Amino acid sequence: MDSQAVENEKILKNVADDIKNGKYKNICVMVGAGISTAAGIPDFRSPKTGIYHNLQKFNLPYAEAIFDLEYFRENPKPFFELAYELMPGRYMPTPTHYFLRLMNEKGLMLRCFTQNIDTLERIAGVPEDKIVEAHGSFQYNRCIECKEMADSGYVRHCIETKDVPLCEKCKGYVKPTIVFYGEGLPSRFFDCMYEDMEKCDLALVIGTSLLVHPFADLPEIATENCQRLLINREVVGDFSERESDLMVLGDCDALVRQLCKYLDWEKDLDELVKANNEVDLLADVMSNVTLEPKLKGTNVEEDTEDEKEGVTGALPGTISISDGATENDGAEEIVSTGQKPNTQNSEPEARESSTTTVIKPAAAKEPDKSKVERRQK
Ligand SMILES: NC(=O)c1ccc[n+]([C@@H]2O[C@H](COP(=O)([O-])OP(=O)(O)OC[C@H]3O[C@@H](n4cnc5c(N)ncnc54)[C@H](O)[C@@H]3O)[C@@H](O)[C@H]2O)c1
Ligand SMILES: [Zn+2]
Repeated sequence: MDSQAVENEKILKNVADDIKNGKYKNICVMVGAGISTAAGIPDFRSPKTGIYHNLQKFNLPYAEAIFDLEYFRENPKPFFELAYELMPGRYMPTPTHYFLRLMNEKGLMLRCFTQNIDTLERIAGVPEDKIVEAHGSFQYNRCIECKEMADSGYVRHCIETKDVPLCEKCKGYVKPTIVFYGEGLPSRFFDCMYEDMEKCDLALVIGTSLLVHPFADLPEIATENCQRLLINREVVGDFSERESDLMVLGDCDALVRQLCKYLDWEKDLDELVKANNEVDLLADVMSNVTLEPKLKGTNVEEDTEDEKEGVTGALPGTISISDGATENDGAEEIVSTGQKPNTQNSEPEARESSTTTVIKPAAAKEPDKSKVERRQK
């Protein structure tokens, strides 16, 4: 066994003991694309397999364009190409998704915050009220111009036939209520963020690079009494800044299974995985499709005036990549992407902040509550 495996084993055994002894009763899980890669959905930043390394396929001018509202207005096709690939019903949840369900069924999970738009948490059986889809999902659809909700069956049909869905009312483009760069996060994210992180005793971060804000602020605002545990291929965010931080590095499905073994949950996990392999996934997903969100604040909020005018970038309450991207504190630059198309309405400063994407480990940052609070407004 290599030293990493020895370290992982030690940490997971200790965490399992603490869970068994009742130390953690309000676990908040924070997940990203890494928990769905084993389902066959590429993440963004993994070398070779990530979407950012396969941009030619989507014919994009720069990586973030795929989730950029201004670019979408000009050319919605690449997004719908990706939507076709990510569409719910095409993928099965992974053991990690079932682990989330198990944690909830054992009465330990306060909330599951996800950045993923693939809805695999729902499909795995995590109840809707326990999930916060921070970046929205394919569940609902809306016109980008007049904001009218659109029928999910119609949008699904368009995605399948590689057509771009149009609004019944104004013929504007319709898109799933996935949060694009420059768009506001669902209010439910901010409501749950502060309430839950106050109570959270174990912050479990799995399969995310923690580069997209404000989601990445979640583990940063964990209280000093909260234990933070990372299960990922690499160290991310400000993990390791706190002396108490725990990090198990490697494949999340394998590590989660190991944790289940120490918790005596392995049989439960196997049963869930097996049972689900037998259901008619597509029928199940379609029976859940509704026109309006069931939970308050799950829909993408109304755009700000600035957004309506075409300004994108790090507006308060909106999604952005790697805070502090403009300041260079000597951290290694991992990605710096190309040009954003010149749109007449775009405001130069905001455009600048979304084109020069310097992605760097956020390790040097102090948790900044005021910054996060600003976003809430
Ligand atoms: N499945 C999806 O819904 C999906 C897919 C791609 C992108 N996105 C969106 O793009 C953004 C991407 O940010 P992100 O942080 O979620 O993803 P990311 O691609 O930036 O980072 C993924 C992280 O997971 C790790 N990882 C990948 N596979 C893993 C595995 N099997 N086990 C353990 N770790 C693994 C990587 O090392 C990396 O640190 C999010 O906003 C999300 O909405 C979603
Ligand atoms: Zn419309």
